[in-house]
Amino acid sequence: MLAVRVPKWEAEKVRRKLIELGVLAKGYAVRREGEFVLFPVTEPVEGFELVEADFERVGRRPHSYREVVEVPDEVRPLLPSSFDVIGDLAIIELPEELMSYGKAIGDAILRVHRHIKAVFAKGGRVSGEYRIRELVHLAGERRTETLHRENGIRLKLDVARVYFSPRLATERMRIFEKTRPGEIIFDMFAGVGPYAVLLAKKAELVFACDINPWAVRYLEENIRLNKADNVVPVLGDVRKVAGKVEADRVIMNLPKFADRFLREAMLSVRDGGVVHYYGFGPEEDLFSEHEARIKAVARELGFGVEFLEERKVRPYAPRQFNIAIDFRVLK
Ligand SMILES: C[S@@+](CC[C@H](N)C(=O)[O-])C[C@H]1O[C@@H](n2cnc3c(N)ncnc32)[C@H](O)[C@@H]1O
Repeated sequence: MLAVRVPKWEAEKVRRKLIELGVLAKGYAVRREGEFVLFPVTEPVEGFELVEADFERVGRRPHSYREVVEVPDEVRPLLPSSFDVIGDLAIIELPEELMSYGKAIGDAILRVHRHIKAVFAKGGRVSGEYRIRELVHLAGERRTETLHRENGIRLKLDVARVYFSPRLATERMRIFEKTRPGEIIFDMFAGVGPYAVLLAKKAELVFACDINPWAVRYLEENIRLNKADNVVPVLGDVRKVAGKVEADRVIMNLPKFADRFLREAMLSVRDGGVVHYYGFGPEEDLFSEHEARIKAVARELGFGVEFLEERKVRPYAPRQFNIAIDFRVLK
């Protein structure tokens, strides 16, 4: 193809000139020949030595692991288009048919996303009291501890030992925006502290409870990392703490079982305080069942409730959503 040949010492100046003229051909590697450099051009350019030369094409870097992964054509349509990134770890949900290609998929993710150091597949649903998920190592380092950045805070955690979902970052920011300076917060199911440490930037005091000793270990580390000295970590069953605090705002981020802890939440909030309740609901009727339960518990305790906001947080399973209900407790 047509090329401009210039002495090496003029190369940078000429390259800029060719870009300015809009004639530098894209997608080709510049060639070096002894004391000369050859630039591929799209049309003749006056004032330069023109030659014919071959150039190697330089492909753009692939954006998705799906462009480089080697799997049989029949399973290719099953490749997930996204995966979670927690710190420098990737966690992907693979259908059964793709599990035997896990290593190839993991290697492809590492090749395309250089900041990722290890890839895991989800090995089942989040389960048990600690809400942990089994993980299957696919490629890269055999390490499950990482440092995740979210909403301006740093969170150290071990994805195999604690619950953490990066998909809740927007929801956490939403609660941060509602929080007012001077508030006392009670984070009933704090995990490694993504709500507690964030809200501590505005609140006066945050009580952060979790029953999983690993979660509280990382919570303590994250308090130090973020200098969130106004967070009080509490290890144990939240039932033992509830009622001993009087918070302006209570966070119930345990969607699977939050309905079982409504009594504790309402006893821990001051008159006029707000509870952020999470649950799961079917698409056709997201909130009714939860609302009924909230009203029933309030009635038992002789309290009133005022529903403030209801929203979908994220899809959870086919036609199921993780939902949030914010309500005020009137005592
Ligand atoms: C869904 S996770 C949420 C963690 C955290 N809020 C987050 O956003 O990453 C629920 C947490 O509740 C904790 N948990 C479950 N039952 C509990 C209980 N009875 N008392 C205190 N914590 C509990 C689990 O260990 C888990 O860390």
